[in-house]
Amino acid sequence: MNMSNKPYSNDSKIIVALDYADVESALQLVNQLDPALCRLKVGKELFTAVGPQFVEDLSHAGFGVFLDLKFHDIPNTVAKACAAASNLGVWMLNVHASGGLEMMQAAQQAVSHSHEKPILIAVTVLTSMNQAGLKQIGIQTELATHVLNLAKLTQQAGLAGVVCSALEAPSLRQQLGKDFCLVTPGIRPSNASLDDQSRVVTPVDALKNGASYLVIGRPITQSADPLKTLEAIYADCADLKL
Ligand code: C5P
Repeated sequence: MNMSNKPYSNDSKIIVALDYADVESALQLVNQLDPALCRLKVGKELFTAVGPQFVEDLSHAGFGVFLDLKFHDIPNTVAKACAAASNLGVWMLNVHASGGLEMMQAAQQAVSHSHEKPILIAVTVLTSMNQAGLKQIGIQTELATHVLNLAKLTQQAGLAGVVCSALEAPSLRQQLGKDFCLVTPGIRPSNASLDDQSRVVTPVDALKNGASYLVIGRPITQSADPLKTLEAIYADCADLKL
């Protein structure tokens, strides 16, 4: 990894999901990438396995890091976790909107008071949940309405945006305005394998639907030539000025 401490100056809309279990595997990909081309997402697996130092190293190497730890706890604990994450120099982090208004406000306050002031977003309803799953935890509301309600609560709490499916992006964009940040996983270039994702959207369509950032994992991480794949995605989106 280039450790030259250069700040990222790009505004790349692609966030590559570093879904690996160890530093060596993650670095094998990172060393082929450039902070000017993409941002990186570090999730629970990699963070739990390798710890905060690696996140700091990625940030120091110039990458914008989305720390995807989806905090969900009492307001004081979440605020402190967000402050600690901010101190790692991350570009973006997230909490669960179902932690409630007070929890999200405490998280936003902690982030706003930090030196780095990362972008704070919320997860509304996990895409692994369906209507029956919601009912099991006592929520009778229709799933799409529940997503919208939680996104509105997120906006009310002062957070920058939400994680959502690119299929939900048009209605969230319409309801929550042009400045609300919509971060969309489940992205597949038209020639890519679906893997275990079922409701996928191409990068071009996700951007047309109003996505602010695209989270892309396996189409890039499992590619024989990740850089070439990333460049091909940019080429597809050239007309949209990605
Ligand atoms: O490999 P793939 O492109 O499917 O990876 C997508 C990334 O986005 C993974 O890190 C996955 O955990 C995450 N994610 C998702 N769906 C959500 C939220 C996060 O696929 N609803």
